[in-house]
Amino acid sequence: MKAEAEERNDPIPSSLGPSSLDPSCSDSSNPGPSSPDGAPVIELIDVHKNLSGLWVLRGVDIKVFPRETMVIIGRSGTGKSVTLRHIVGLMGPDRGEVRVLGRNLAALSARKLEELRLRIGFLFQSGALINWFTIRENVALPLLEHRRHMKAAEVEKRVLEKLRLVEMEGAVNKYPAQISGGMKKRGGLARAIILEPEVILYDEPTSGLDPVMAATINELVVHTRDALGVTQVVVTHDMESAYRIADRIAMLYEGKIIALGTPEEIKKHPDPIVQQFITGSSKGPITDKNNE
Ligand SMILES: Nc1ncnc2c1ncn2[C@@H]1O[C@H](COP(=O)(O)OP(=O)(O)O)[C@@H](O)[C@H]1O
Ligand SMILES: [Mg+2]
Repeated sequence: MKAEAEERNDPIPSSLGPSSLDPSCSDSSNPGPSSPDGAPVIELIDVHKNLSGLWVLRGVDIKVFPRETMVIIGRSGTGKSVTLRHIVGLMGPDRGEVRVLGRNLAALSARKLEELRLRIGFLFQSGALINWFTIRENVALPLLEHRRHMKAAEVEKRVLEKLRLVEMEGAVNKYPAQISGGMKKRGGLARAIILEPEVILYDEPTSGLDPVMAATINELVVHTRDALGVTQVVVTHDMESAYRIADRIAMLYEGKIIALGTPEEIKKHPDPIVQQFITGSSKGPITDKNNE
């Protein structure tokens, strides 16, 4: 979290109005076959972000509905992690609005933002376990910090319950260095859900894993949604994983969502940029553009 955590901006003046860079290809207003209902749990409205002089996000619009798993795909360096950081309030938009669990993040005080963050679990790319703590200690940490009244026996019960959910009961006393990459991710997930969040964000949960381990993590993402009834956003460039876990997929390209739909809709998407990305082809508009 540290270095990327930056000051959030003041509330966005409403006079700024909609952007001239509206994503024309986004079809979020066109409900697909799995059209979700209820108010969105997460809503990014015309989000723009400039980092070190570069407009990384140029009008991102996205809505994630209750109990939905939204997968954001896109090449490396397109702003997927930056988008996740906006959802958890580690970064604020230069323009546009981020709404999570009914609140405009920019309008919250630091304390209210902190409270809201406790309702969001974040699985970092690395798993982010602390090396000198056992798995049990790592998973218990948020409880010790934020649920100080909780009795030791209750903490233990909750920790074991979450470790069971990620099939890690056998590794409670191990240190991160003693377990595989896939187990570290599962331990990280147990820690991300220990406070029983309503939203879970995953940054590249299958990256660096072998295909078998990646498949296990995919199952777990689906299982977590079903078991806990949470709303999830998963960022990945792994299409196999995206198809396996997504209710809907959004493709981020040059700072905007250029395609949004169910896995079936994305597979059939007419945009050649989308097709090149999802088929992993070396030839097409993405590479032509970069070679210009
Ligand atoms: N804290 C930061 N300060 C400056 N530039 C950043 C910061 N975080 C990300 N970037 C830049 O924003 C772009 C998108 O990064 P990122 O969201 O990490 O991409 P990815 O889609 O691979 O997750 C990259 O060009 C990256 O260098
Ligand atoms: Mg990233």
